[in-house]
Amino acid sequence: MIRVQPRYDPEDTYARLFRKAVGSQWSADDVDWEAPLGLPPRQAVALTRVLSPVYLGEQSAMYGACAVLPQLAAAGETSAQLYIASFLLDEARHFEILTQLYQRLDHHPVALREVPEMLRYHHRLRQGDRIDWIWGILISDLFARQFYQAFAKVQPAALFGRVSARVLIDESRHQAFSHTYLKHVVPNLPPERRQGLRAMRDDLLQTMGAIHRRLRDDTEALGLDGAVFLGELAAQIEAHARSIGLDQDTDDGGDGAGHGGDAGRAHADWARLISGKREQSKASGGVAWPAGSVAASGEPRAQRRRRFAFDLHGLAQSCRACAVALLCRARVAQSAARA
Ligand SMILES: [Fe+2]
Ligand SMILES: [Fe+2]
Repeated sequence: MIRVQPRYDPEDTYARLFRKAVGSQWSADDVDWEAPLGLPPRQAVALTRVLSPVYLGEQSAMYGACAVLPQLAAAGETSAQLYIASFLLDEARHFEILTQLYQRLDHHPVALREVPEMLRYHHRLRQGDRIDWIWGILISDLFARQFYQAFAKVQPAALFGRVSARVLIDESRHQAFSHTYLKHVVPNLPPERRQGLRAMRDDLLQTMGAIHRRLRDDTEALGLDGAVFLGELAAQIEAHARSIGLDQDTDDGGDGAGHGGDAGRAHADWARLISGKREQSKASGGVAWPAGSVAASGEPRAQRRRRFAFDLHGLAQSCRACAVALLCRARVAQSAARA
């Protein structure tokens, strides 16, 4: 029900995030579209293909925000409602900028018939209520952040690296909201609701694994190790899940599952799934970064690899109990063997 003057605290976290978002707006007109691409033709095409799930994700986020905003209003969560309005504008901006990027690259994203799991991911995000969606969008934002971060670090002077650096500022705000909101509500959810959120996490991760397998040739053309990428993402999601109290049933022994229970088995299945059929990615010996890119500017190959790879050893140490840690350690061993 709409109210003339809903309850609103301008000092709460969501209100402050909303004002921060209002003060941080920018547009496609602020992007230097004449910046070098820094990618030879095959890698430029690979980027347009690997970027496709992120591109659809920007639109999916807009759809979801539209659906969730009236739910927040109905619950009297006015400051969260205002924040989501700014989130909607952020995602609209990302969509517009990526659309212009596709025009600059003169190539289309992959079609849904080629990677139908993108649609499955979108529909999974739309199941449930606002809490489900905020958890799903946190997972999606972590994925997007990691993707953009890879390019912002490796190609800071190139067009997509510059765009990525700007988008990352928005994504950190999105992550702050979702994490804070969930940390407030998740501990008060009944066990079956928390189990539903864990099931959603596993569904989304498995779908990401399926998307990765469809696009593996392109990620390898870019020199990205998709399995390592997803392994790091899973570890980040795991850390957030613990911090917001989602895994307290398993960690505290509430349902006796622990990491050896259903959640643990789901992660073990997923770790096998993303490790894929190929024992070792071609990425380590893949296509070199192009002339003119930062990665190709005289930096030794082994050093480039270290910059693009993630701190798997640290991850393995920080989440030693979960199945993803086993995967990280396996990758650490592989990296050591390749070095
Ligand atoms: Fe976005
Ligand atoms: Fe986002």
